[in-house]
Amino acid sequence: MPLLRDTALATAFDHGAGTYDRLIAFHPGYHAQLRRSVRRLGLRDAGAVRVLDLGCGTGASTAALAAALPGARIIGVDASAGMLRRARAKSWPPGVRFVHAAAEGLEYAGVRGPFDAVFAAYLFRNLADPDPVLRTVRRLLVPGGRFVAHDYALGGRHADRLIWDVVCRGVVLPLGTATGNRELYRHLWRSVLEFDTAPAFGGRLERAGFEGVRVLPLPGWQTGVTHTFAARRPAAVLGGAR
Ligand SMILES: C[S@@+](CC[C@H](N)C(=O)[O-])C[C@H]1O[C@@H](n2cnc3c(N)ncnc32)[C@H](O)[C@@H]1O
Repeated sequence: MPLLRDTALATAFDHGAGTYDRLIAFHPGYHAQLRRSVRRLGLRDAGAVRVLDLGCGTGASTAALAAALPGARIIGVDASAGMLRRARAKSWPPGVRFVHAAAEGLEYAGVRGPFDAVFAAYLFRNLADPDPVLRTVRRLLVPGGRFVAHDYALGGRHADRLIWDVVCRGVVLPLGTATGNRELYRHLWRSVLEFDTAPAFGGRLERAGFEGVRVLPLPGWQTGVTHTFAARRPAAVLGGAR
């Protein structure tokens, strides 16, 4: 069965939105690991930094950003109206707002930047073609602007795949089935197996024109399964931004 993409995926997330926050509550360290990846942006809370949270979902990643950067202007973008409805229903500092758009259509939706940072948690593995979206992210950043992707991307060892299979068969698929979202959580399982390994995604960032790319592990059972990818748009050089 092919992976869910575009409208089919947004519809599956619409359906899963009602139980998403309860399911991630079963995930040990979910919020702490998002906060760790936010710290890896390397931003200090220097007032109104402009941050894009791409694929913000119900706002778990937005909350991690808002906690670390209380004065930031944060735009959360998501293709699923149902996930965004959950995000909007939460209480947010005044600088946070949400836009319903696909990552592939940001500029049409009026999301034009520039941003000091872009954060994307558990998004890129869902995209039919990550490369044009990476190039858009790079273009929307100020020169020297920071990009962090946080995602399930296997380290490449046999043991990493084994752990992912055990977690999915033992926990993710049963919980997904019990909440009526088997298709979405089967997509989660398969999308990780079919996505880049962590070193390959790091290489993809370099080919998209990012510099200072770092592929960083996360602690606990997710070592070798979930990674932070930290990079920046090259700084301006004489004669204009690269
Ligand atoms: C697994 S959730 C992660 C949500 C949030 N970032 C978090 O950390 O909990 C992935 C989100 O990406 C969104 N998404 C998937 N494909 C997308 C696309 N092409 N454009 C925008 N959002 C997309 C989904 O609707 C979903 O809300």
